[in-house]
Amino acid sequence: RAYPRDNLTNVTPSILSKTTRQLYLQQYHPILILRNCIESYFDKFHHFNSFSPIVTTVQNFDELGFPANHPGRSTTDSYYINNSIMLRTHTSAHQRQAFQTGAEKFLISADVYRRDEIDTCHYPVFHQMEGAQIFSINKAIEEIACDMQISTSQQYRHINTDDNTVISTTNPIQPCHPIEVANATISHLKYSLNELVKMLFIDEKNLQVRWVDAYFPFTSPSWEMEIFYQGKWLEVCGCGVIKQDILNNAGQPDKIGWAFGLGLERIAMVLFNIPDIRLFWSKDPRFINQFTSNEIIKFKPFSKYPSCIKDLSFWMNNDKEHEFHITNFCEIVRDIAEDLVEDVKLIDDFMHPKTKKRSLCFRINYRSMDRTCTNEEINGIQDKIRESVAEKLDVTLR
Ligand code: DAH
Repeated sequence: RAYPRDNLTNVTPSILSKTTRQLYLQQYHPILILRNCIESYFDKFHHFNSFSPIVTTVQNFDELGFPANHPGRSTTDSYYINNSIMLRTHTSAHQRQAFQTGAEKFLISADVYRRDEIDTCHYPVFHQMEGAQIFSINKAIEEIACDMQISTSQQYRHINTDDNTVISTTNPIQPCHPIEVANATISHLKYSLNELVKMLFIDEKNLQVRWVDAYFPFTSPSWEMEIFYQGKWLEVCGCGVIKQDILNNAGQPDKIGWAFGLGLERIAMVLFNIPDIRLFWSKDPRFINQFTSNEIIKFKPFSKYPSCIKDLSFWMNNDKEHEFHITNFCEIVRDIAEDLVEDVKLIDDFMHPKTKKRSLCFRINYRSMDRTCTNEEINGIQDKIRESVAEKLDVTLR
């Protein structure tokens, strides 16, 4: 389909080319294996796997209660086709559609798009899985008690799920919900996700999981679930009790329910031992050939090719300073170098004392995942990046 451009258009050909890859549907792909695994855990849930990544800003933001000034709406964070059409930034964009089908428990898996910095765990496209379950407000307590009785597993006891969160005025139960019904919904949500991570990480020794308070415009109360991995707490999921307006507007006014959004790459990197997020996009058969259906196998890196480091610095033209954003720089780098860049770091940022001009220096770390690059090739790419940066960001190269 053709869409008219306007002053918000910021999608690039390289990003648009990703919309047809559909890794979550590709046989033997770790994202598909993980999706299948989660779908079989939530075995009675309806699955939506074919929503288009092109959505309206109403679906992505307004229907979910994002205020007009929410930072997620800015063109430095999101990809716009034009001022009313964009690439979805999260699977929550389809909640309303999914509830409108009448489904009472469902999963939505999809690719989502965010402008981001460049490093081994950020990529402008990644995958999320949205889950939701709703109950009749009148019968919720019995339905939930019954559901939690059926599925209780004893085999995962070595995994601790810490929860020190408390309901408070900063993360409140919605006034329209009877307290006991809201509490039952909350226990069902936490129970469902605790059991899910215990099932997924059954072979990880000493995995630690914790719940922390969070804020999302479309849930209250809201939390994030984090897992401790290689010395860091990784956020794997956002969740909460669905704002009642959303259910009312989707034709489900007598229901109460929970929803979550899981980041699939985060979990897959841990489970399959995948060290760099670019690998998910690799067309090298040495990647995909390592995996088989329905099995979580540790990935064996084929080899680490040498890296090549290049710095790029420039003076910013004074009047444009406030408009500069690192994601604009990273976008140019990605557009030209594609997946050859492992990370980009801002290594210097200073103001000239006399001219008051600001100078920035970025360090670009080039490393292919499947071959050794020559210095000439990288120099050629670096020159193109310099040219494009000078032109598009209106800066003076140093
Ligand atoms: N959409 C949120 C994000 O991408 C994640 C999320 C949070 C999804 C809470 C939910 C939810 O369904 O209830 O950051």
